[in-house]
Parts: sequence; C-alpha cells; structure tokens
Amino acid sequence: MNPEDLKRMAAEKAVEFVEDGMTVGLGTGSTAYYAIKAVGRLVDQGYDLECVATSLQTERIARESGIDVMDMNSVENVDLTIDGADEVDPSLHLIKGLGGALLREKIVAAATEMEIIVVDSSKLVQKLGTRSPLPVEVLIFGSDHTAARLKALGCDPVLRTKEGEAFITDGGNLIYDCHFQDGIGHPFHMESKINTIAGVVDNGLFLDVAKKVVVAHQDRLEILDKPPA
Ligand code: 5RP
Repeated sequence: MNPEDLKRMAAEKAVEFVEDGMTVGLGTGSTAYYAIKAVGRLVDQGYDLECVATSLQTERIARESGIDVMDMNSVENVDLTIDGADEVDPSLHLIKGLGGALLREKIVAAATEMEIIVVDSSKLVQKLGTRSPLPVEVLIFGSDHTAARLKALGCDPVLRTKEGEAFITDGGNLIYDCHFQDGIGHPFHMESKINTIAGVVDNGLFLDVAKKVVVAHQDRLEILDKPPA
C-alpha cells in the first residue's frame, strides 16, 4: 500500500469516532488532511458539527470541504480532535510540530476530551527524539539568546527555514528544530526545562495528551489506547 493510502485509512478510521452534534478539532498535516475531508463528507450527509481548526491551513482546507470553522473562543470545549504526529512512543507520548502548527494544536488539544492521533507505523518509536527533532516555537525577539539556552540543554537547535527565509508560524513566531543525539530520556523533565526558558512559546512534546492512536500498518489498522496511569 502506498503512504497516502495508509494515511487516508488511519484518518478515516478515526473519523468513525465522530458523532452527530459533537464539537470536533481538526488537526494539521498530510494525515489529518484526510480526516478533514472525511469530516466534510459527514457534514454533507447532514451531521451537525461544530469544528475548530489547529492552523490557518487547516481552516482553509476545512472551508473548501464545506465545513464551518468556529473561532476557538466561541466553543466551551472540544469533544474530539483528530490530529497527526511526528513520533509516538509506547506510552502514547508524542512529538508534534514538523508541520509548524504545534502551538494551536496544543491549545486545541488542551480543550479536548478525546484526542485521537493518526499515523502510519513509521512514526512509532521506542524513545522520543530519535526519529524526529523536537520543534520549539520561539519569539523572534532575542531568538539567538533563546536558541543558546536551548543548546545548553544538550540539543542542536536548527532554525527552521522555508524557501530560504525563516519559517514564521501562524502565531508570528520562529521554530527551532532541536536535534537530540540520543533522543529525549526524560520527556517530562525536558518539557519543563524548555518551557521555563524566556522566549520559548511552547514545544512539540505532547505528553499524556493522546487517548487513542490509530496506526496504519502495511497490512492492517491498529488502535492503541492510552495505558492506564
Ligand atoms: C503539524 C503536526 C503534524 O500533525 C505532524 O507534523 C504530522 O504531519 P504528517 O501527518 O504530515 O506527517 O504536528 O504541526
């Protein structure tokens, strides 16, 4: 099966959890794209859904798919969000943000009751930070200083660029992709260390956020549930 089919299958499986009347968070990225399209088909069938978007790009795709997108401040909570991820570890902790939307994704996830992550099996890792760098969103002001403090945590922070220019997030910030040579041994500790650096807006560690992960393998779909605490 080709990679696009795997993404589509995982995303469409997750959309089976959407019920009429729900408030739904729409994720960002090439896998979440297929979920947005499937949610659009539910709206076509008459489902009454309130939807919020995790990025401007998702908002545009959703509107093109016939979905009304609400302002995040106008919903009280989100029943279910379907989003992608860059890494998933055995405890269902995640790295997200290679698509550049980690901040809005985290805000929507924080308001969400059931966060469902959709990935193909290449995203499964034993240890976070071994397949993907950790994206960290940083204010433009003083960013060289912020990057130096990130480096002092033992990673190599690389400024993300697009077409030769610094990549700017929907929030108007920069992203440093932080490469950890041996991965991230203590993700909770690292999360708090990173988020106490002045100038850091947020980071791509999503710990204890995912309730379910739908994994597309070459020959089957698997649904992983958050292990009990
Ligand atoms: C965007 C994200 C994406 O969900 C993540 O990068 C996965 O994207 P894709 O499904 O295209 O691999 O976190 O900020």
